[in-house]
Amino acid sequence: MVAGKSNGVPKGQRAGESQSSMPADHCQLPIHYLRRLMEKKKQIVMSGIRPTGFLHLGNYFGAVRNYVRMQEEYECYFMVADLHSLTTHPDTTELKTNVHRVLAENIACGLNPDKVALYCQSHLHETCELYLYLNMLAYKGELEKTTTFKDKVRQQPDNVNAGLLTYPVLQTADIIIHRALYVPVGKDQEQHLEMARNFVNRFNHRYGQIFPEPAAYNFGEKLVKVPSLDGSGKMSKSENQFATLYLNDDDELIRKKVMRARTDSGPTATNSAKPDYIENLFSLMNLVSNEGIVKKFDEDFNNCTIRYGDMKKQLAEDMVRFISPIREKVKSILSNEKYLKEVMEKGAEKARISADATMKLVREAMRFNYF
Ligand code: TYM
Repeated sequence: MVAGKSNGVPKGQRAGESQSSMPADHCQLPIHYLRRLMEKKKQIVMSGIRPTGFLHLGNYFGAVRNYVRMQEEYECYFMVADLHSLTTHPDTTELKTNVHRVLAENIACGLNPDKVALYCQSHLHETCELYLYLNMLAYKGELEKTTTFKDKVRQQPDNVNAGLLTYPVLQTADIIIHRALYVPVGKDQEQHLEMARNFVNRFNHRYGQIFPEPAAYNFGEKLVKVPSLDGSGKMSKSENQFATLYLNDDDELIRKKVMRARTDSGPTATNSAKPDYIENLFSLMNLVSNEGIVKKFDEDFNNCTIRYGDMKKQLAEDMVRFISPIREKVKSILSNEKYLKEVMEKGAEKARISADATMKLVREAMRFNYF
């Protein structure tokens, strides 16, 4: 999925205009970062994660893995969506700890804060201004039909707040404040991206072509949905915790969770279709085990000789091998609060360069030039 272009210029971007307009008053940032921005125009990438719990394998394979892959080639903006978390978690007592943890988890997974802008959503005030303007272009009917809104209404009937309703509008502001084209996300965010394109088109139609249409991105492949271990639904930060593998889980817990995964007595006919919960185990194995191992268990399944106990033991060990180095890195990064503070400050400073430039265009396009 690639955003529309004409004559090599992304749809919504003015011909001849760099996406990285750079004001002169940002001299605090390392020179190599500024040089990267000035270099040949790079396409812009943006994404975010809510600080509502420990990151899990779904967050990693749906989002963070792609952030890491994209950081070399693109101009990247990644943030911790603390404002979005208020729609479901209004108690802010633990917010600082949770924001720090998501930052540390991103870095432990390989994100390099020197190469990208890694920041906290609430530090970029321009997003809130853009959110306000976009709210005038978003309609109650369409917002009420959003799947995530309907889910949340079911989950928290006593707190159906306006922030929850306009969640996709704030997410759109997050993305287009940087005029991003690519948004690395998991499958569950597809509808939000579709709505973002609608809001962008309405804005551009009414006020002029300011924004490119953003698209969910996974290197030309289908968006990822990492299934839960119990065969129902997806891994999630706050639901279904025993069927979700968190990057913070210790080795024994990982083994316990994997060994509890649902199986059955095995296929009775050769080459039969896999039930969903078995397909899920293979999907998880595909993510962390080597190809030969997956192939062997696949053949065993097709020959009806598979031993699910052996398969789960193998999967558990491969998961431990995958998760434990990340978990240990997170611990060490978290112990350095000064470093995390610097990361956030620098990240916000970088994000502000691009947000400032976008908001100048927006205000001009909307004719807020009364002087
Ligand atoms: P959040 O915090 O729920 O999830 C963060 C990222 O992880 C992906 N993800 C998954 N991918 C595959 N399988 C799963 N089981 C799975 N669970 C989660 C999500 O798709 C997401 O990419 N609305 C966003 C946060 C946000 C945002 C943004 C994202 C705020 N502003 C701007 C992109 C751009 C969210 O709730 O993510």
